[in-house]
Amino acid sequence: MNTPKSVADAVDDARKASTRAALVTGAARGLGLAIATRLGHLGHPVVLLDASDDVETSAAQLRSDGIDAQGLRVDVSQDDEVRALPARLQALGTQWERLSILVNNAGISPKTDGRKRLVSDMPADEWRRVLAVNLTGAFLVTQTCLPRLCAHGWGRVVMITSQAARTRTPVPGAHYSASKAGLTGFARVLAGEIAVHGVTVNCVAPGRIASAMTAAIDPRQNAALAELIPVGRLGLPEEVAATVAFLVSEGAGYLTGASLDVNGGNFMA
Ligand SMILES: NC(=O)c1ccc[n+]([C@@H]2O[C@H](COP(=O)([O-])OP(=O)(O)OC[C@H]3O[C@@H](n4cnc5c(N)ncnc54)[C@H](O)[C@@H]3O)[C@@H](O)[C@H]2O)c1
Repeated sequence: MNTPKSVADAVDDARKASTRAALVTGAARGLGLAIATRLGHLGHPVVLLDASDDVETSAAQLRSDGIDAQGLRVDVSQDDEVRALPARLQALGTQWERLSILVNNAGISPKTDGRKRLVSDMPADEWRRVLAVNLTGAFLVTQTCLPRLCAHGWGRVVMITSQAARTRTPVPGAHYSASKAGLTGFARVLAGEIAVHGVTVNCVAPGRIASAMTAAIDPRQNAALAELIPVGRLGLPEEVAATVAFLVSEGAGYLTGASLDVNGGNFMA
């Protein structure tokens, strides 16, 4: 008779989740919104952070779905905006106090006429902007949140990197690959530094996932790329969110410093 125990476990999981708030960057749409939705349905209070004004609307949608969600307009590449986060989270209620999960998802992959720029003609400003958002942005948010994440003896940090961090990929530019490889290195060092506080740090490396970012190239190119993927299609944001949900779960406590590939078998390490 294990039914009463599993019910008790489920109640315990839901109680724990409600005490563990999650911050997801780049959550107004796409993968970030799917991740915030999934964590919210698991019972975590979620704070959606995004540089777009749409973040308020996205948070309101989650609230109408019964999720404890708040939206904050923050550009993760702006030092002063990120440093103001603790005060803004405190003003929302108990989100700062309960902050236990951080998902660094905000990212950009600029294209010109639907194509990446080659290194030979990449403006230095475009290079700097991608590094500022994808890599330095994650550093700023993580460093700002670290005291809270390490305060409870339990915490989770997840970096949304990319297949481009793991191998050569044809679509994104060199700045994007460099930023995501940098994020992977950052995650490994951080994982070693804060494991002692019960906080794990892992990367999720998606392959091609259907979102506004992937829609920025010619649909025929996406169709041709899908044919090369063993699973035979682009991935879904919800499939990335499911992997994040595992990484922030109780059962993933001995998994840290790792990269999980979510790419339909397109790259196997
Ligand atoms: N879609 C894919 O195929 C794919 C593959 C691998 C990795 N990724 C990564 O997943 C993450 C999400 O990608 P997506 O496909 O959902 O992209 P998306 O463009 O649909 O969404 C990205 C979100 O990040 C926000 N954002 C951009 N710059 C920001 C900033 N400076 N501060 C705060 N928010 C900012 C945008 O406003 C947007 O809401 C990115 O880091 C991306 O590199 C995506």
